[in-house]
Amino acid sequence: MTLFPRMLISTRRLRRCQCLQILATCFVMSLMLMWVQDDNDFVNHIKSYSYRYLVNTYDFVNDSLTIGRDKSDAHSYSYLISNKDKCQNENVLLLLFVKTSPENRRRRDAIRRTWGNEDYIQSKYDATIKVMFALGVEKDPSKRNLLQKQLESENAAYNDLVQQDFLDTFHNLTLKFLLQFGWVNAYCSNAKFIMTADDDVFVHTPNLVSYLKGLDQIGVQDFWAGRVHRGSPPVRNKNSKYYVPYDMYQWSSYPDYTAGAAYVVSQDVAAKVYQASQTLNTSLYIDDVFMGICANKMGVVPQHHLFFSGEGKAPYHQCIYSRMMTSHGHLEDLHYLWKQATDPKVKELTSGFWGDTYCKLVNMMLLCNIRYKDTYRCSAAWS
Ligand SMILES: *[C@@H]1O[C@H](CO)[C@@H](O)[C@H](O)[C@H]1NC(C)=O
Ligand SMILES: *[C@@H]1O[C@H](CO)[C@@H](O)[C@H](O)[C@H]1NC(C)=O
Ligand SMILES: *[C@@H]1O[C@H](CO)[C@@H](O)[C@H](O)[C@H]1NC(C)=O
Repeated sequence: MTLFPRMLISTRRLRRCQCLQILATCFVMSLMLMWVQDDNDFVNHIKSYSYRYLVNTYDFVNDSLTIGRDKSDAHSYSYLISNKDKCQNENVLLLLFVKTSPENRRRRDAIRRTWGNEDYIQSKYDATIKVMFALGVEKDPSKRNLLQKQLESENAAYNDLVQQDFLDTFHNLTLKFLLQFGWVNAYCSNAKFIMTADDDVFVHTPNLVSYLKGLDQIGVQDFWAGRVHRGSPPVRNKNSKYYVPYDMYQWSSYPDYTAGAAYVVSQDVAAKVYQASQTLNTSLYIDDVFMGICANKMGVVPQHHLFFSGEGKAPYHQCIYSRMMTSHGHLEDLHYLWKQATDPKVKELTSGFWGDTYCKLVNMMLLCNIRYKDTYRCSAAWS
């Protein structure tokens, strides 16, 4: 009699086990089904992370995208505006390329007056920076001639445009990338650091320049910093702006790369990346991913800088301004941010023991708050 209930329990257990087994099988089967589907975001991420952290070799990416040097000169477009004397005989700490488009004159002017003000940086921080704008040709034929004339007079006033003869479109971003690294290689290989940024980014040039000066003193090499994307999957959804077909890129994840919004490299990395770009298939039009493939080919790895933002915008606070390097998505508020960046009071208030403690607390509240997605990481608060 005492045995009976026990047997009952064990058969119940058995049933539960079977049930679990069936559930697990179903789960795995559905995962496998989703796996073969291309545009499932969740599965794409699992696939890419497993690839990044289990396989973690991109040698065959390197091999399969490498083409002969002879085949690759198809992408050398001629310069319409080159400013090739810009860096000559100068001790340039930072060459900063801003990716812009012909019609974005207002953005360029705002940058020239704020964070891209070379003279201000020279006089206040005793560092030579060069800010250049990289662009192609207006895509709309009906506006092209007029805009081109305007660009020429803009350049006559500022001498800071670099333009090549390709259509300035989203899908030609890799051509713009090649323009920048090609120009650096040809006319500005003496610059210690090279940065590239979007024209809707705020770059805290005072913070950046002091950071780079420090790195220059220790003679840093193999340096590539920004907001790092690790194990990102290609987008296989045909409706997305970032859609990449299989014949363009067949693996489930990209090599590590930094967000194109803003990243900075040392002179030696720029040279290596340029060299690699000359032997790779340039049809992949996502420029920051392409940069990652070039760097991967040369064995250069990116490092994450906590105060470089990707798509995101930094919260507005003095404790953020005192550490910020770049923040994305700024147009109307550039002047406000520049005022904060150059106001000595901000540094005063946020330094010293109390300023530091106060800012750690404030930054924790700002950055570790899930309401602010996509800004600097929480760990930046106590770094
Ligand atoms: C890129 O620029 C080239 C040269 O102007 C042009 O022929 C091509 O159509 C452009 N590609 C895209 C995707 O806009
Ligand atoms: C580059 O890749 C594309 C596919 O994205 C392919 O059509 C093209 O033939 C390749 N170019 C070379 C020179 O191999
Ligand atoms: C990439 O491939 C080229 C030749 O295809 C090779 O010389 C180079 O060493 C490779 N780079 C890496 C990092 O494996």
